Amino acid sequence: MAVRLNDAYMKAFVSQKELEAIRPQVTCAHQLLHSGKGLGNDFLGWLDLPRDYDKAEFEAVRKAAEKIRSDSDVLVVIGIGGSYLGARAAIELLKSPLYNNLKKDTPDIYFAGNTLSAGYLDEVLSLCEGRDVSLNVISKSGTTTEPALAFRIFREWMEAKYGKEEAARRIYCTTDRSEGTLKELCDKNGYQTFVIPDDVGGRFSVLTPVGLLPIAVAGCDIGKLMEGAEAARQAFAEDDLTHNDSYRYAAYRNILSRKGKSVELLVSYEPRFAMMNEWFKQLFGESEGKDGKGLFPASAVFSTDLHSLGQFVQDGSRVLFETVISVKGCGKDLLVKEEPDDFDGLNFLSNQGMSAVNRKAMEGTILAHTQGGVPNLILEMDAVNEYELGFLIYFFEKACAVSGYLLGVNPFDQPGVEGYKKNMFALLGKPGYEQQRAELEAKLKG
Ligand code: PA5
Repeated sequence: MAVRLNDAYMKAFVSQKELEAIRPQVTCAHQLLHSGKGLGNDFLGWLDLPRDYDKAEFEAVRKAAEKIRSDSDVLVVIGIGGSYLGARAAIELLKSPLYNNLKKDTPDIYFAGNTLSAGYLDEVLSLCEGRDVSLNVISKSGTTTEPALAFRIFREWMEAKYGKEEAARRIYCTTDRSEGTLKELCDKNGYQTFVIPDDVGGRFSVLTPVGLLPIAVAGCDIGKLMEGAEAARQAFAEDDLTHNDSYRYAAYRNILSRKGKSVELLVSYEPRFAMMNEWFKQLFGESEGKDGKGLFPASAVFSTDLHSLGQFVQDGSRVLFETVISVKGCGKDLLVKEEPDDFDGLNFLSNQGMSAVNRKAMEGTILAHTQGGVPNLILEMDAVNEYELGFLIYFFEKACAVSGYLLGVNPFDQPGVEGYKKNMFALLGKPGYEQQRAELEAKLKG
C-alpha cells in the first residue's frame, strides 16, 4: 500500500481493548458515510471521485494546461482556502517549495487572492511585469472577497496589457457549473470555465479542476494522481479497523482526543511537505472544529522546528500527539565527504547520505517524544510522486469524514467561517449591514 499507518509506538498510549471498544462506532461512521445518510450528505462527491470523475473535463484541463505552458511565463492562481491550498501543496510537494526559482520549462506559478494584503498582491503584480501571464481564478461561490478583489485588480492589469480579447483567452475560471457571480462574468466575457462539482466542498476539491489545472501546468502527471487516489478509494472501501489504515488513524485520533490530547501535530522531515501541512490543517480544522469539539490541527517541519517547537513537544503541557509522515526516498541525496582535519567533528558521518542523517533524526525524535509522553502515529510512504500523493490525499479525506462522524459533527460544512466575514462587511459599510456596523463601531470605540 502506498501509505501505511505504523502504530508500533502507540502501545503505551492506546490499548487493543480501546481500539476494540471504538470498532462499532467506526462501523457506524462508515455506514453513515457510505449510505449517504449522515450529516452533510450533499457533499459526498469526493468519495467516489477518483473513479467517477468527469473524463472529458479532465482532458479539457490537460489541454488548457498545455496551452498555458506554451504561451505563458507565469500562471497566477487566484483562490483561497479549499480553492487554493491543495494545488499549492501538491506543486510544492511534487516539484519543490523552490519551484519558481528552479530551472524548468514550465511557467512560474504565483498564488494570489489568498490574503487581503495589498503589499503581497502588488509584489505578485510586479513579478508579472514584462512577462506573458495566464490567470486561473478559482472560487466555487464566486463571491469570496479575497479572490474577487484580486481578480478585479488582475483582470484590469490583463486587459491593459493584452486588450480584452487576448486577456479573455488567458483567463481560466474554475467555479460552479451554473450559478454565481464568477460564472456570470465568465459567460459574459467568454472565459474558459472548469466545473467544481456541486457535491464536492472546497477542502475536498483538490482532485477536481480546482487542483488539477495548476498542478498540470506545473508539469505533474495528473493521471497518476487520480490513479493513486483510486487505489486508496479501493483500499479504504471496507469497514475493517484492522486493515483499513485510514479508519484506524481516525479511531486513534478520536481515542486520543477523549484522553485529553487536544492537539494533533502533523510532522514531516521534508520542507516540501510544509504546504501539505497547511492543506491538512484546513481539511481537519474546518471539518472537525465545530460545536465546541475537534482536535486542533497543528503542524511542524522537523528538524527545523525541533529548534523552535521541540522543547514544548518534549517537555511542555501534555496536550499533543504527533502524526509523523515518514518518506523513504525524497529527492536527490547528498553524500557527506571525509575531511582530512575533521575540524567540525563530522567525519563519523563520512560516506553517509544526508537522508540517512535525516532518518536517524526522525527515529531519535520519535523515541524521545514517545518517551516524553507524546503518542506518535507514523504514516509511511515509499516515495514522493503523483501516485503516492493521490493516495495520501484520499487517505486523509476518508479519515477526516469518519473522524467527523465519530465526533458527532457535520464534517462537510463550515458555518464558523462566516463570523469574520459578516463583521468585515459591516465595518466596510456593505449595504444591508447598517445596524451591525453601528453596533460594531460602538464596541470598537469601547
Ligand atoms: O473548504 C471550504 O469550503 C472553504 O475553505 C472554501 O474553499 C473557501 O472559503 C473558498 O471558497 P470559494 O471557493 O467559494 O471562493
